[in-house]
Amino acid sequence: MNKSENIVWHKSAVKQTDRENRNGHKGFVIWFTGLSGAGKSTLAVEVEKQLFKLGCSTYTLDGDNIRHGLNKNLDFSSKGRIENIRRIGEVAKLFTDAGVIVCTAFISPYKKDRNSVRQLLDKNRFIEVFINCPLKECEKRDPKGLYKKARKGEITDFTGISAPYEQPENAEITVDSSVETVKESAGKILKYLNKHGYLSV
Ligand code: ADX
Repeated sequence: MNKSENIVWHKSAVKQTDRENRNGHKGFVIWFTGLSGAGKSTLAVEVEKQLFKLGCSTYTLDGDNIRHGLNKNLDFSSKGRIENIRRIGEVAKLFTDAGVIVCTAFISPYKKDRNSVRQLLDKNRFIEVFINCPLKECEKRDPKGLYKKARKGEITDFTGISAPYEQPENAEITVDSSVETVKESAGKILKYLNKHGYLSV
């Protein structure tokens, strides 16, 4: 719901297509989703690095990082997560309008929220990448020691343990970080982008 009234959209003189033409590629979002510890941030950083090396304009929005600033007032309740993803969807849209390729690494556990972001963006500007790593493996990795804490009940509403994760059914790309290397998964994504014309205007 929009709580602001009497607001009128003001058009920019520079269009998205102008920016895309200068950049030599489209502005779009690569939306990584998966459990904590699945490897979203690692893969997002690798994909961004490879795209940047190719000369693309890129940026990565990472859940842990964004929760240090823009979203520091949000918790991990369903309400907090819904607002987290709504804001990131809007921020990602601004980036695409700026002609940038944006990689996002958020658990984004709810299908409805991911689909809302998909709807928010123009067609073909949202690529969902599901990092399908089994919970068992994520828990074994436990890079931040959070699963251990969640099992002991020291963290409540922990995704996969005491809060849900709804797997995507129609992700454009699915990778399994328990059997693929980061480079292999990144290669798959770059191949998809090339095949579907994302890296040209
Ligand atoms: S989301 O569910 O709202 O999309 P987000 O990606 O921003 O989550 O943040 C997830 C990160 O926050 C995890 O990788 C983990 O480091 C940390 N975290 C802290 N508490 C929780 C929790 N209760 N559930 C999941 N992740 C948590």
